[in-house]
Amino acid sequence: MRRKIVAGNWKMNTMPAEGVELAKAVAAKRHEAGSNVELIVCPPFTHLSEVVKVTRGTGVAVGAQNCAAEEKGAYTGEVSAAMLASLGVEYVILGHSERREYYGETSETLNRKMAMAYANKLVPIYCVGEKLAEREAGKHFDVVGAQLREVVFNLTTEQFAHLIVAYEPVWAIGTGKTATSEQAEEIHAFIRKILAEKFGEAAENTPILYGGSCKPSNAPELFAKSDVDGGLIGGAALDADSFLGIAKAF
Ligand code: PGA
Repeated sequence: MRRKIVAGNWKMNTMPAEGVELAKAVAAKRHEAGSNVELIVCPPFTHLSEVVKVTRGTGVAVGAQNCAAEEKGAYTGEVSAAMLASLGVEYVILGHSERREYYGETSETLNRKMAMAYANKLVPIYCVGEKLAEREAGKHFDVVGAQLREVVFNLTTEQFAHLIVAYEPVWAIGTGKTATSEQAEEIHAFIRKILAEKFGEAAENTPILYGGSCKPSNAPELFAKSDVDGGLIGGAALDADSFLGIAKAF
Protein backbone atom coordinates (compact mmCIF):
# COMPACT_ATOMS: atom_id res chain seq x y z
CA MET A 1 0.00 0.00 0.00
CA ARG A 2 1.35 3.38 -1.02
CA ARG A 3 1.17 6.33 1.40
CA LYS A 4 -1.81 8.66 0.91
CA ILE A 5 -0.86 12.30 1.41
CA VAL A 6 -2.68 15.62 1.29
CA ALA A 7 -0.32 18.59 1.54
CA GLY A 8 -1.30 22.25 1.74
CA ASN A 9 0.87 24.77 -0.09
CA TRP A 10 -0.11 28.07 1.47
CA LYS A 11 2.17 30.05 -0.89
CA MET A 12 2.60 33.72 0.18
CA ASN A 13 -0.69 33.83 2.06
CA THR A 14 -1.75 34.44 5.66
CA MET A 15 -0.10 36.71 8.19
CA PRO A 16 1.80 34.76 10.89
CA ALA A 17 -1.01 34.90 13.47
CA GLU A 18 -3.57 33.79 10.87
CA GLY A 19 -1.32 30.97 9.79
CA VAL A 20 -1.03 29.71 13.34
CA GLU A 21 -4.82 29.79 13.67
CA LEU A 22 -5.19 27.91 10.40
CA ALA A 23 -2.69 25.26 11.51
CA LYS A 24 -4.50 24.91 14.84
CA ALA A 25 -7.83 24.49 13.05
CA VAL A 26 -6.37 21.82 10.75
CA ALA A 27 -4.93 19.98 13.77
CA ALA A 28 -8.24 20.23 15.67
CA LYS A 29 -10.18 18.76 12.75
CA ARG A 30 -7.54 16.26 11.73
CA HIS A 31 -9.65 13.35 13.05
CA GLU A 32 -12.27 14.12 10.36
CA ALA A 33 -9.87 12.60 7.83
CA GLY A 34 -8.97 8.94 8.16
CA SER A 35 -5.74 7.89 9.80
CA ASN A 36 -4.84 6.32 6.43
CA VAL A 37 -4.12 9.79 5.02
CA GLU A 38 -1.13 11.89 6.06
CA LEU A 39 -1.55 15.66 6.31
CA ILE A 40 1.20 18.19 5.71
CA VAL A 41 0.93 21.99 5.91
CA CYS A 42 3.49 24.20 4.15
CA PRO A 43 3.28 27.78 5.44
CA PRO A 44 5.63 30.67 4.64
CA PHE A 45 9.05 30.64 6.37
CA THR A 46 8.01 33.26 8.92
CA HIS A 47 5.31 30.99 10.35
CA LEU A 48 7.20 27.72 10.49
CA SER A 49 8.50 27.86 14.01
CA GLU A 50 5.08 28.55 15.55
CA VAL A 51 3.24 26.18 13.22
CA VAL A 52 5.61 23.34 14.18
CA LYS A 53 4.83 24.05 17.84
CA VAL A 54 1.05 24.06 17.49
CA THR A 55 0.95 20.93 15.32
CA ARG A 56 3.41 18.81 17.30
CA GLY A 57 1.83 15.47 18.23
CA THR A 58 -1.38 16.19 16.29
CA GLY A 59 -0.72 14.07 13.22
CA VAL A 60 -0.18 17.15 11.04
CA ALA A 61 3.37 17.45 9.65
CA VAL A 62 5.02 20.66 8.49
CA GLY A 63 6.84 21.45 5.28
CA ALA A 64 8.57 24.51 3.84
CA GLN A 65 7.93 25.85 0.34
CA ASN A 66 11.56 26.16 -0.71
CA CYS A 67 15.12 25.96 0.60
CA ALA A 68 18.49 27.32 -0.44
CA ALA A 69 20.70 25.50 -2.93
CA GLU A 70 23.74 26.24 -0.75
CA GLU A 71 24.68 25.05 2.68
CA LYS A 72 25.36 28.42 4.37
CA GLY A 73 27.18 31.69 3.94
CA ALA A 74 26.84 34.91 1.98
CA TYR A 75 23.49 34.26 0.29
CA THR A 76 21.36 37.21 1.30
CA GLY A 77 17.72 36.38 1.75
CA GLU A 78 18.10 32.62 1.53
CA VAL A 79 17.01 30.04 4.11
CA SER A 80 19.00 26.83 4.41
CA ALA A 81 17.68 23.30 4.67
CA ALA A 82 19.56 22.93 7.97
CA MET A 83 17.70 25.93 9.41
CA LEU A 84 14.39 24.38 8.44
CA ALA A 85 15.26 20.98 9.82
CA SER A 86 16.37 22.51 13.10
CA LEU A 87 12.84 23.90 13.59
CA GLY A 88 11.26 20.46 13.22
CA VAL A 89 10.20 20.95 9.60
CA GLU A 90 10.08 17.55 7.87
CA TYR A 91 9.25 18.30 4.23
CA VAL A 92 10.18 20.84 1.57
CA ILE A 93 8.40 21.64 -1.69
CA LEU A 94 10.99 21.92 -4.48
CA GLY A 95 10.58 22.87 -8.11
CA HIS A 96 7.11 24.38 -7.84
CA SER A 97 6.17 25.87 -11.19
CA GLU A 98 6.00 29.35 -9.62
CA ARG A 99 9.63 28.99 -8.50
CA ARG A 100 10.63 27.73 -11.94
CA GLU A 101 8.73 30.51 -13.70
CA TYR A 102 9.30 33.59 -11.49
CA TYR A 103 12.62 32.77 -9.85
CA GLY A 104 14.36 31.01 -12.70
CA GLU A 105 14.81 27.66 -11.00
CA THR A 106 16.32 25.13 -13.35
CA SER A 107 17.15 21.45 -13.03
CA GLU A 108 20.68 22.52 -12.14
CA THR A 109 19.45 24.60 -9.16
CA LEU A 110 17.01 21.91 -8.17
CA ASN A 111 19.67 19.21 -8.09
CA ARG A 112 21.53 21.29 -5.52
CA LYS A 113 18.37 22.00 -3.50
CA MET A 114 17.48 18.32 -3.48
CA ALA A 115 20.96 17.48 -2.21
CA MET A 116 20.60 20.04 0.58
CA ALA A 117 17.18 18.69 1.53
CA TYR A 118 18.42 15.10 1.76
CA ALA A 119 21.59 16.09 3.61
CA ASN A 120 19.32 17.55 6.28
CA LYS A 121 16.76 14.74 6.29
CA LEU A 122 13.99 16.85 4.77
CA VAL A 123 11.69 14.91 2.44
CA PRO A 124 11.36 16.75 -0.89
CA ILE A 125 7.98 17.15 -2.53
CA TYR A 126 9.34 17.52 -6.05
CA CYS A 127 6.94 19.28 -8.44
CA VAL A 128 6.66 18.68 -12.16
CA GLY A 129 4.13 19.84 -14.72
CA GLU A 130 3.66 21.33 -18.15
CA LYS A 131 2.38 24.73 -19.26
CA LEU A 132 -0.77 25.16 -21.31
CA ALA A 133 1.08 25.67 -24.61
CA GLU A 134 3.14 22.55 -23.96
CA ARG A 135 0.02 20.46 -23.36
CA GLU A 136 -1.67 21.91 -26.42
CA ALA A 137 1.38 21.03 -28.48
CA GLY A 138 1.23 17.48 -27.12
CA LYS A 139 4.58 17.94 -25.37
CA HIS A 140 3.46 17.27 -21.81
CA PHE A 141 5.02 13.82 -21.59
CA ASP A 142 8.36 15.16 -22.87
CA VAL A 143 8.35 18.10 -20.45
CA VAL A 144 7.46 16.05 -17.40
CA GLY A 145 9.82 13.26 -18.43
CA ALA A 146 12.71 15.74 -18.67
CA GLN A 147 11.87 17.31 -15.30
CA LEU A 148 12.13 13.84 -13.76
CA ARG A 149 15.19 12.60 -15.65
CA GLU A 150 17.21 15.76 -15.07
CA VAL A 151 16.65 15.76 -11.31
CA VAL A 152 15.14 12.62 -9.82
CA PHE A 153 17.41 10.33 -11.83
CA ASN A 154 20.39 11.82 -9.97
CA LEU A 155 19.13 10.52 -6.62
CA THR A 156 20.53 7.46 -4.93
CA THR A 157 18.20 4.52 -4.35
CA GLU A 158 18.17 5.40 -0.67
CA GLN A 159 17.17 9.02 -1.40
CA PHE A 160 14.57 7.99 -3.92
CA ALA A 161 12.86 5.84 -1.28
CA HIS A 162 11.97 9.07 0.56
CA LEU A 163 10.78 11.14 -2.38
CA ILE A 164 7.28 12.52 -2.94
CA VAL A 165 6.41 13.73 -6.46
CA ALA A 166 3.67 16.25 -7.23
CA TYR A 167 2.25 16.58 -10.72
CA GLU A 168 0.84 20.06 -11.20
CA PRO A 169 -0.22 21.10 -14.69
CA VAL A 170 0.55 24.82 -14.76
CA TRP A 171 -2.71 25.50 -16.63
CA ALA A 172 -4.68 24.12 -13.69
CA ILE A 173 -2.91 25.97 -10.87
CA GLY A 174 -5.13 28.62 -9.33
CA THR A 175 -7.22 28.76 -12.49
CA GLY A 176 -10.21 26.75 -11.31
CA LYS A 177 -9.52 24.47 -14.27
CA THR A 178 -8.74 20.96 -13.03
CA ALA A 179 -7.24 18.14 -15.02
CA THR A 180 -9.85 15.45 -15.56
CA SER A 181 -9.26 12.35 -13.51
CA GLU A 182 -8.40 10.54 -16.76
CA GLN A 183 -5.79 13.16 -17.68
CA ALA A 184 -4.35 12.95 -14.17
CA GLU A 185 -4.20 9.16 -14.16
CA GLU A 186 -2.64 9.08 -17.62
CA ILE A 187 0.27 11.29 -16.62
CA HIS A 188 0.65 9.88 -13.09
CA ALA A 189 1.00 6.41 -14.59
CA PHE A 190 3.52 7.84 -17.06
CA ILE A 191 5.49 9.42 -14.18
CA ARG A 192 5.60 6.11 -12.35
CA LYS A 193 6.77 4.38 -15.53
CA ILE A 194 9.62 6.87 -15.99
CA LEU A 195 10.63 6.50 -12.32
CA ALA A 196 10.61 2.72 -12.73
CA GLU A 197 13.02 3.01 -15.69
CA LYS A 198 15.63 4.16 -13.23
CA PHE A 199 14.52 2.78 -9.86
CA GLY A 200 12.56 -0.34 -10.82
CA GLU A 201 10.07 -1.74 -8.34
CA ALA A 202 10.74 1.05 -5.83
CA ALA A 203 8.66 3.37 -8.04
CA GLU A 204 5.59 1.45 -6.91
CA ASN A 205 6.02 3.03 -3.47
CA THR A 206 6.48 6.65 -4.55
CA PRO A 207 3.53 8.85 -3.61
CA ILE A 208 2.52 10.94 -6.63
CA LEU A 209 0.26 13.84 -5.67
CA TYR A 210 -1.99 15.81 -7.99
CA GLY A 211 -2.07 19.62 -7.76
CA GLY A 212 -4.06 22.25 -9.61
CA SER A 213 -7.46 23.53 -8.47
CA CYS A 214 -8.08 20.44 -6.37
CA LYS A 215 -11.06 20.95 -4.05
CA PRO A 216 -13.46 18.87 -1.93
CA SER A 217 -15.81 18.49 -4.91
CA ASN A 218 -13.29 17.04 -7.37
CA ALA A 219 -10.91 15.25 -4.97
CA PRO A 220 -12.92 12.00 -4.70
CA GLU A 221 -12.80 11.41 -8.45
CA LEU A 222 -9.12 12.28 -8.73
CA PHE A 223 -8.05 10.26 -5.69
CA ALA A 224 -10.01 7.24 -6.90
CA LYS A 225 -7.45 6.79 -9.68
CA SER A 226 -4.88 4.14 -8.94
CA ASP A 227 -1.78 6.28 -9.50
CA VAL A 228 -3.10 9.42 -7.77
CA ASP A 229 -1.89 9.14 -4.19
CA GLY A 230 -3.14 12.45 -2.86
CA GLY A 231 -2.94 16.14 -3.54
CA LEU A 232 -0.80 19.25 -3.26
CA ILE A 233 -3.39 21.88 -2.51
CA GLY A 234 -3.02 25.64 -2.94
CA GLY A 235 -6.09 27.86 -2.61
CA ALA A 236 -8.29 25.25 -0.95
CA ALA A 237 -5.66 24.66 1.75
CA LEU A 238 -6.25 28.15 3.15
CA ASP A 239 -9.47 27.03 4.80
CA ALA A 240 -9.34 24.18 7.33
CA ASP A 241 -12.73 22.80 6.30
CA SER A 242 -11.96 22.66 2.60
CA PHE A 243 -8.48 21.21 3.27
CA LEU A 244 -9.99 18.50 5.48
CA GLY A 245 -12.80 18.08 2.97
CA ILE A 246 -10.17 17.09 0.40
CA ALA A 247 -8.42 14.73 2.83
CA LYS A 248 -11.77 13.07 3.53
CA ALA A 249 -11.94 12.05 -0.12
CA PHE A 250 -9.84 9.00 0.78
P1 PGA B 1 -4.13 25.56 -6.48
O1 PGA B 1 -2.52 25.47 -6.34
O2 PGA B 1 -4.69 24.41 -5.65
O3 PGA B 1 -4.49 26.89 -5.89
O4 PGA B 1 -4.45 25.43 -7.91
C1 PGA B 1 -1.86 24.24 -6.31
C2 PGA B 1 -0.36 24.48 -6.17
O5 PGA B 1 0.18 25.33 -6.88
O6 PGA B 1 0.30 23.82 -5.33
